Amino acid sequence: MPRILTTWVDKYRPSSLAQVVGLPHEVSTYENGGSKESLCLVGPPGTGKTTVAMILCSMWNAEVLRLDSSLDRGVDVVRDRIVLFVTTKSSKWKVVFLDEFDQMTPAAQLGLRATIENSRNTTFILTANIESKIEEPIMSRCVVIRFARLADSAVLFYLGEILKLENVRFNEDDVKRIWMQSGGDMRMAIKRLQICSILEGNGRVLDLEKGISDEVTLGKVYTLLMTGNLKALLGVAKESSIDVDGVLKYMEEKIAQKDDVAEMLVLAEYQYHRAVGVDPISVLLGLSAALADLHGKSKSR
Ligand SMILES: Nc1ncnc2c1ncn2[C@@H]1O[C@H](COP(=O)(O)OP(=O)(O)OP(=O)(O)O)[C@@H](O)[C@H]1O
Ligand SMILES: [Mg+2]
Repeated sequence: MPRILTTWVDKYRPSSLAQVVGLPHEVSTYENGGSKESLCLVGPPGTGKTTVAMILCSMWNAEVLRLDSSLDRGVDVVRDRIVLFVTTKSSKWKVVFLDEFDQMTPAAQLGLRATIENSRNTTFILTANIESKIEEPIMSRCVVIRFARLADSAVLFYLGEILKLENVRFNEDDVKRIWMQSGGDMRMAIKRLQICSILEGNGRVLDLEKGISDEVTLGKVYTLLMTGNLKALLGVAKESSIDVDGVLKYMEEKIAQKDDVAEMLVLAEYQYHRAVGVDPISVLLGLSAALADLHGKSKSR
C-alpha cells in the first residue's frame, strides 16, 4: 500500500545504531561487520528489537530473507523457504530475519536447529517478546541479547527532540505523562505524541486532553465508516470538524493490524484522492461507500 501519510513511528525509526535509545551494549560487537554470530533479540514491545535487526541487515549489505513468524509459523516455511534461501549460492552475506519468532510453532523452531548450526554464510536474527516461548536448543545456538525497559531520562530527551523537529510546542510534564502511560513502549509513546499534537493557529501544540478526545472521535468515525452509516458519519464530521488526514492514518493502522488486503486497496485509493486534493468530506463519503460496497459484496458471496 502506498504510504502517502507517514506516521511518526515510521518517520523516527532509527536508521543507525547510534540513534537507538538504550541500545544493549552487546550489539556493538556486531557493528561494522565485527561478529556475525546468530542473534536472538528478546524483550518487551516497542524497545527497538525489530529496528536493530533492520539496521544490522542494512549495515552488512546482506541478502535478506525476512519473515514475520506470526504469519509464517509452521515447518513448511522452514523447509520451503528458509532452507532453500540458505542453500542457494550468493556472493553476498545472507541474513534470515525471523521477526516475532516466539510465534513460530515449536516443531518449526526445532526444525531450524541444524540449519542455524551448519550455515557458514548466514546470520540468523530472531526477535521475540517472550523468552520462554523460544525452544532451548535455539537459544543455545544464538547470542541472546535482552532489551530492557528504557531509561526515563533518555526517552524523554528523545521524545522532546521529535516534538522540536515537528515544531510542536510542549511542556515537559505532558511528555512525562505520555511516557508514563505508555508502559515502557516507545512505539506507543510516539503514536500518542502524534495524536496529541494538535493544530493551533499556524503551529502545533501538545494537548493531551484534546488528543485523547480526538482519539475517541477517530474510533467513532472508524466504526461509522466500516458500517457504512453515512448520515451519522456526516453528523460527526460536521460536529467535531474532524481531521480527515488523521482519520486516514488511523484507518491505515487499523486495517494493517487486521491485514485485510481488500480494505487496504480501497483505503489506498482514497488516500490518493486526498493527496491530489479532493475535498475532505468527499473523500470520507467516497471511502465509506466503497467500504460498504466491499463488505456488501463479501457478505453476499
Ligand atoms: N530504543 C529505541 N530508540 C528509538 N526509537 C525506538 C526504540 N524502540 C522503539 N522505538 C520506536 O518505536 C518503533 C517500534 O520499534 P520496534 O519495531 O523496533 O519495536 P520492537 O521492540 O520490535 O517491538 P515489538 O516487540 O512490539 O515488535 C520504532 O519505529 C521507533 O520509532
Ligand atoms: Mg518487533
